[in-house]
Amino acid sequence: MIQPIETVLFEQDNVYLLDQTLLPLERKMLLMADSAGLYEAIKNLRVRGAPAIGVAAAYGLWLGIRDMPKNSSREAILEQLQATKNYLATARPTAVNLFWALERVQQKILTTQPNDIINAVLEEAHAIKAHEMNTSNMIGQYGAPLLRGVSSILTHCNAGSLATTGIGTALAPIYAAAEAGQIIHVYADETRPLLQGSRLTAWELRQAGLPVTVITDNMAATVMRQKNIGAVLVGCDRVAANGDFANKIGTYGVAILAKEHGIPLYVAAPFSTIDFATPDGSRIEIEERHASEVTHFAGVQTAPSDVDVFNPAFDVTPAKYVTAFITERGVIRAPFLEELQRFGDGYS
Ligand code: MRU
Repeated sequence: MIQPIETVLFEQDNVYLLDQTLLPLERKMLLMADSAGLYEAIKNLRVRGAPAIGVAAAYGLWLGIRDMPKNSSREAILEQLQATKNYLATARPTAVNLFWALERVQQKILTTQPNDIINAVLEEAHAIKAHEMNTSNMIGQYGAPLLRGVSSILTHCNAGSLATTGIGTALAPIYAAAEAGQIIHVYADETRPLLQGSRLTAWELRQAGLPVTVITDNMAATVMRQKNIGAVLVGCDRVAANGDFANKIGTYGVAILAKEHGIPLYVAAPFSTIDFATPDGSRIEIEERHASEVTHFAGVQTAPSDVDVFNPAFDVTPAKYVTAFITERGVIRAPFLEELQRFGDGYS
C-alpha cells in the first residue's frame, strides 16, 4: 500500500510543514508559529505544489486568528481573517489553489456564530486537506487505466505526494498502477532551476520503492526517442477555462516534444486547480523568481555577477497539446471549453 508523505500536518493544536527545501538530504517537519511563518514557507517553497499550497494556506488562515481573545466580536474576527487572507494571497501568484482554498474557508464561515468561527476555520482546513487526499486517490483510479501497456513515462517537476496531501496528481496513476501490479518506469526531468524533479520526484518514488531515472531537462527529446515513453504525465498550477494550463517552467517544451514524438500528454488536475474565471492561458499570472536561482547552482555562482536573468517559475501550455486532463471526476478530453464546464458543474 503506497502511503502519502505528510506534507501538511496538524498535531496537538499545531501546524507543521515538511520543509521540502531540505530534501532529499533531510526530512524535517517545521512548526508554523503564526501566519507569517506560513507565508514565508509558501514563498520560499518549503511547501510547494498547487494542492499542498492551498491546504497550507487554509491552516494559515486559522493561524492568523487562533490567538484572538475568546470574547472577540464577530467583526473583529472577520476583519483579522480578511487581513490574513489578503496577506497569504500575496505569497505566490500562479497556483490557483492558494486563492481557491482561502476563498473556500471564508465562504464557509459567513453565517457562523462568533464563538465558533475560529474552530470552524480549523475544521474547514482539515476538510480541504481530506478533500485533496481523496482527490489524489480518484486521479489515480481514473489515470491508471490510461497507462495500461505503458512501461515508461516522462514527467516534469514534482506532482507527486509531496505536492499534495495525498498520493499526488501526475504520480497518482503511477502509484495506483503499482498497487495493481503494474510497475511503470518514471523518467524524471531534473527541472531547473530548483530541481523539483531530481530532489523531490526521484526521492519520493525511491521512498515508495518504484523505479525512476533522473535526466537533465535537455535530455527529454532523446529519452522520448530512445526509451519507449508511452505517455507524458504532468501536474498543473492553474487550468484556464479553455484548457490552457500553467505548470512548472519547461512543461511547454515537453508538451511540444511529446506531440512531435506522437506521445500522449496527460495533465493531472484536481478541480481545485481549474480556474473558470480565467478564460485562457494568456491571463494567468506567471511568477518570476529571484535571479540567483539561475546564476547559482547549489550555492556556487555559475554566471557573471552582472548578467541579466529571466526566471519565470511557470509556463503556459496551449490546450491543443493536451491529450486529456485527469481529474477526480473523470478523464476529460477536447473540446475542453465545453467539457471542463460539463465535468465541473456544481463544483465549489
Ligand atoms: O514551484 P513549485 O514547486 O510549487 O511548482 C510545482 C509545480 O509546478 C507542479 O507541477 C504543480 O504544482 C502540480 S502539483 C500537483
